Amino acid sequence: MSKILLVGGGGREDAVARKIVESGGELFSALKNRNPSILGLSREHLIVDELDYTRIVDFAVSKGIELAFIGPDPVLATPLENELSKKGIMVASPTMDAARLETSKSFMRDLLTRHKIAGNIFSRLFRDKGDLQSFLSHETREFAVKPIGLTGGKGVKVMGVQLRNAAEALSYATQVLDHDGQVLLEERITGEEFSLQVFTDGSRIAATPLAQDFKRAYENDEGPNTGGMGSITDSNGLLPFIPRRSYDFALSVMQQIVVSMKKDGNPFKGVMYGQFMETAEGPKVVEVNARFADPESMNILSLFEGNFVELLYSIAEGNLKLNFSFLEQASVLKYVVPKGYGTDPVPGSLSVDLKSMPKDIMLYYAAVSGTKEKVEMSTSRSLALVGIAPTIEEASEMVDQNLNRIKGDYYIRHDIGSRHMMEEKMRKFRIS
Ligand code: GLY
Repeated sequence: MSKILLVGGGGREDAVARKIVESGGELFSALKNRNPSILGLSREHLIVDELDYTRIVDFAVSKGIELAFIGPDPVLATPLENELSKKGIMVASPTMDAARLETSKSFMRDLLTRHKIAGNIFSRLFRDKGDLQSFLSHETREFAVKPIGLTGGKGVKVMGVQLRNAAEALSYATQVLDHDGQVLLEERITGEEFSLQVFTDGSRIAATPLAQDFKRAYENDEGPNTGGMGSITDSNGLLPFIPRRSYDFALSVMQQIVVSMKKDGNPFKGVMYGQFMETAEGPKVVEVNARFADPESMNILSLFEGNFVELLYSIAEGNLKLNFSFLEQASVLKYVVPKGYGTDPVPGSLSVDLKSMPKDIMLYYAAVSGTKEKVEMSTSRSLALVGIAPTIEEASEMVDQNLNRIKGDYYIRHDIGSRHMMEEKMRKFRIS
């Protein structure tokens, strides 16, 4: 049995952990929270600050780990991959340098520009307050103001959304510049977002079903941005409100990124996740991430059929194996979160009636501790329920129908994948 190390303790990593164990891997985990599902699946675990790569490497070496997989983005910004590789441990995740695709937004924009990859948008990096002020005072366009590095989905502010006018944009951009020494302005784009996650060995890619995630805290996509409140996929691997040609375009962008990284001598292996927006001018790249998406990874891993451990080995060895497929069913994920999540979360506890939970509902444990039946919430996302059914609407209803098996003070977005939401998206799609 292969000894596999998984780093991270959220819902995304719980889904990966299950696939590793189902595929015959012996799981070792390094995580900061006592996630009851991951701990239950692990032969051994290390509770650790996930950024403390030295301790994780020592743990991996002492346990004779053969292959490692890294879940969370902040860990990809550490030299963990590089240090594990030096010890002869295979890693199915990118090096720190390749992960700059996500950890530096200007690196990603520059890569697209240098290699003339389509789907890029206007962006400009500022290091000087005078330049920033002069640029914004002459502009009529609206911009997204972005810190260069990782912000957990919460640092980006957009004119016309969180920033009411040019003065507020200048003030926020100046604040970021003062803090980080630089700030990125990107032309504001509008439309439906979609996520495309691919596996890559540094040369070839293999696609997974197209997904959409819902970042706003409240129903009808209102309220503050969060790490993601839920996500959907459809039975044919596409989304009914995104044209097939946009999916093909996105796939070709991802392939070109992989080829360009290799050409630059900085090959990328692991999971690459492109966030795109379907605009009136066609699909545009919003961001490129160096890992599985959270929550969308849980949709696609719930549908994955094949040997996940073999896939990870083939990624790490540079010999991508395509002997897997995805169940031809729709999936809807809804996150159970503490009340007030997004502004002032109030953690409490949840009772889960696991015995009565139907088999076609997947239940993943996220930033929690306690036991699988008595869950202790943190201030972050707690449980992810994934319904799997022939249609998105049915999968959405399936999650709601089983919520009575979870008791406690929590909040969940019921509208994700609902008939009303899907009809509204289709109506907009038809008139676009
Ligand atoms: N789906 C949002 C993220 O993983 O960053």
